[in-house]
Amino acid sequence: MAEALVELVGVEHSYKSKGGPVPALGPLDLRVDPGEFVVVVGPSGSGKSTFLRVVSGFEHPSGGAVRLLGRTPVPGRDVGVVFQQPRLFPWQSVGANIGTSLRWAGVPRADRPQRIVELLEQVGLGALGPRRTWEISGGQQQRVAIARALAAQPRLLLMDEPFAALDAMTRERLQEDVRTLTDDGTRGVVFVTHSVDEAVFLASRIVVLTDRPGRIALDLPVPLPRGAGLSADELRGSAQYAALRGEVASAVRAVAA
Ligand SMILES: Nc1ncnc2c1ncn2[C@@H]1O[C@H](COP(=O)(O)OP(=O)(O)OP(=O)(O)O)[C@@H](O)[C@H]1O
Ligand SMILES: [Mg+2]
Repeated sequence: MAEALVELVGVEHSYKSKGGPVPALGPLDLRVDPGEFVVVVGPSGSGKSTFLRVVSGFEHPSGGAVRLLGRTPVPGRDVGVVFQQPRLFPWQSVGANIGTSLRWAGVPRADRPQRIVELLEQVGLGALGPRRTWEISGGQQQRVAIARALAAQPRLLLMDEPFAALDAMTRERLQEDVRTLTDDGTRGVVFVTHSVDEAVFLASRIVVLTDRPGRIALDLPVPLPRGAGLSADELRGSAQYAALRGEVASAVRAVAA
């Protein structure tokens, strides 16, 4: 079997607070392989962001073991992270924002201009490199955030409700682009959302978490077709999509009850 991107064994996490420990996550076991697009759904406060922080190494779990590419995760290494808000540097142009991520990733200065062009192209922002970050729309800013996360060519991309603040049309367009990120089978994505529609559209696998502390209530493969040349509208209109949507929605209702 190929090496797992991420492997969690008996992972749990509690936050310390004045009133005593707050159990936020687990215990849970989960393995994510290259080519998987795992979407995590769960009630507010169920530990979804905690889960991403534990996987990225920004939070050390209170119990259990996390392996990222076979090693203990180190913050800022091996994963790209996209948050709900783009968190760009307002004093830099769009291109310079991406250039900064390339510098952090150790890409030699001479190679950066070409990589910036490629990354802008990849996220559909071709000519916007010289713009300031406040001169582009919210959806375009989120595309820059995705380009920044891809700059280090991470094997694993973690996305925490990245489209929650966007209008419906921009959101659908970005979903269509992001859905292809795992197509070449080398990368994995773990994506958190509150939207069942978004989950079914994007995922190759959906994980529903219970209420806090988040444990796995449902781990469901999504057998919808993937790959180039697919019509997003046909996919969203298919009977299989509707059936999966129903199944996930009732699982989410059950854990929220
Ligand atoms: N720094 C902290 N100190 C204490 N408790 C925390 C801390 N961060 C999160 N928590 C608690 O841990 C639980 C899980 O938080 P987390 O942010 O992972 O939830 P979430 O599933 O991402 O929620 P949402 O959907 O609202 O983003 C919550 O109940 C929260 O109150
Ligand atoms: Mg969260």
